[in-house]
Amino acid sequence: MNVLRVSVVSKISKDGKRLQHSSTKAQIKSPETIFRAKSSAPVMLARRSSSRSGPGLQTFGGNAGCNRNSTTAKSVSLAASAATEAEAIVDVDLGDRSYPIYIGNDLPWGELLKKHISGSSVLIVTNETIAPLYLDRCIDALKEEEGLRVESVILPDGEEYKNMETLMMVYDKALQCRLDRKTTFLALGGGVIGDMTGYAAASYQRGVNFVQVPTTLMAMVDSSVGGKTGVNHPLGKNMIGAFYQPQCVMIDTSTLDTLPLKEHASGIAEVVKYGLIKDAEFFVWQEENMEKLLNKDPDTLIYAVERSCINKAEASPPLALWRKGTVNRASRQGHCFLQSLTYATWP
Ligand SMILES: NC(=O)c1ccc[n+]([C@@H]2O[C@H](COP(=O)([O-])OP(=O)(O)OC[C@H]3O[C@@H](n4cnc5c(N)ncnc54)[C@H](O)[C@@H]3O)[C@@H](O)[C@H]2O)c1
Repeated sequence: MNVLRVSVVSKISKDGKRLQHSSTKAQIKSPETIFRAKSSAPVMLARRSSSRSGPGLQTFGGNAGCNRNSTTAKSVSLAASAATEAEAIVDVDLGDRSYPIYIGNDLPWGELLKKHISGSSVLIVTNETIAPLYLDRCIDALKEEEGLRVESVILPDGEEYKNMETLMMVYDKALQCRLDRKTTFLALGGGVIGDMTGYAAASYQRGVNFVQVPTTLMAMVDSSVGGKTGVNHPLGKNMIGAFYQPQCVMIDTSTLDTLPLKEHASGIAEVVKYGLIKDAEFFVWQEENMEKLLNKDPDTLIYAVERSCINKAEASPPLALWRKGTVNRASRQGHCFLQSLTYATWP
């Protein structure tokens, strides 16, 4: 049986410090953890979140797939004390590849990001839609750190540009700027930018630091968590890629203010997916709060993102398990369906 660390944090102050923190441990028997235990996977998932009951939800029983014992109930009562906090941190515990996911509305970007930038330069990768909206904010936040060199590259927008040719623009910029192996690549955008920047980070000079600032709901709850990066090939979606974990993911839900409704609805579909496949209580909460989610109510969004990230992190196995091809079948079946619509049949 594995141990799930449940911690209750966390208000992030305007200077990026965590103001409250308490934690506890619980033993769980979810199907995934039983599988991990049997296969001696070296990975343990840790949660460090506000574990709020969620706006509009009176109880917090955890994922429907988890048989929680009384120790967990203890953690729930701890959670109640943090129920008014608006921000959360979910830690994805992957040993030396662990990383925090910061979630909040109007977060202090500079303070949070600088903790995860070790070298003296950053390359922001974004696209022509997001650049006019958020690039200056990102540059200004990073430049709060004295002596940090901030470069940026603006890619064309669209899934059709998620390919090797566009990826080359990132390498070109990095090499023209003579960015060294200690540089950090920062993805500012949706899932397309996140996937491409992650793969660029995994391969540039055999791997550099990587930070994600997702700006679509889809990227916040799905593509920025789990370490899958890559680009499309004409014969298949996401066929060129790597597993590569970021140093941190910073989710500022205020960036969703500018997201078109169609893209927002696509992200909500991902949130609903977690409820349907493994978290029945979350699904009930969604039914009761769907209008607020659609209207981008900040507290409702933060809770939905937090709980989705926990579900995604739990469903994202360590690299060894992915290679064995034994988990996350629901996700794979979805991708097969998508491929059948978009690409030729895969043998
Ligand atoms: N790595 C993974 O685990 C994983 C998981 C799921 C999906 N994905 C990938 O994610 C991609 C889809 O991601 P997506 O749905 O975020 O699409 P996207 O990245 O194409 O973004 C959708 C559109 O919204 C725009 N946009 C982004 N943020 C905005 C904002 N704040 N305001 C206004 N406009 C904004 C983008 O420019 C784009 O036009 C696919 O390529 C898919 O393969 C990866």
